[in-house]
Amino acid sequence: MSTLIVNEETYPLPEDPRTTLLDFLHQHLSMFGAKKGCDHGQCGACTVLLDGERINACLVFAFQLEGKSVTTIEGIAKKTNDSDAKLHPLQKAFVERDAFQCGYCTSGQICSGVALLGELAAKNPSAVTCSADYSQKEDISERMSGNLCRCGAYPNIVDAIEDVIALEPQ
Ligand code: FES
Ligand code: FES
Repeated sequence: MSTLIVNEETYPLPEDPRTTLLDFLHQHLSMFGAKKGCDHGQCGACTVLLDGERINACLVFAFQLEGKSVTTIEGIAKKTNDSDAKLHPLQKAFVERDAFQCGYCTSGQICSGVALLGELAAKNPSAVTCSADYSQKEDISERMSGNLCRCGAYPNIVDAIEDVIALEPQ
């Protein structure tokens, strides 16, 4: 049986090969954290992690991901032994920095932000990093540019990500 791992659980892939990953999450797994904004790869609301890297869930078919591991916003929080959900540092920073208004883009922003932290840890350059003079805020904005926020919460989102970068040894 063809399977896909989502948040460390294994699920059978849908029979209809036209099912996108986003529709698979919503209609088969009842995971609604990843949002459908544009359904055309333009807004980032559906961002999830595929083997640690961000991907627009509306742009891939679930069957293309056989055997791979997807992490959605539901899997970003770490589970402790006593089953209490513990927020990821970036989720805490979003709350502390008030980095959202309506919240529709937030799950995608946080998944993207988690992947951004991975890019920095791996020392992967962004387009901004390649210029001689850039600020950390500019670098974060460039790396997060695939995620739109109709409420315009960008300054607080960047601040929240900066807070978490400051926690990590670079
Ligand atoms: S819903 Fe996937 S990028 Fe907009
Ligand atoms: S918080 Fe409303 S779209 Fe971003």
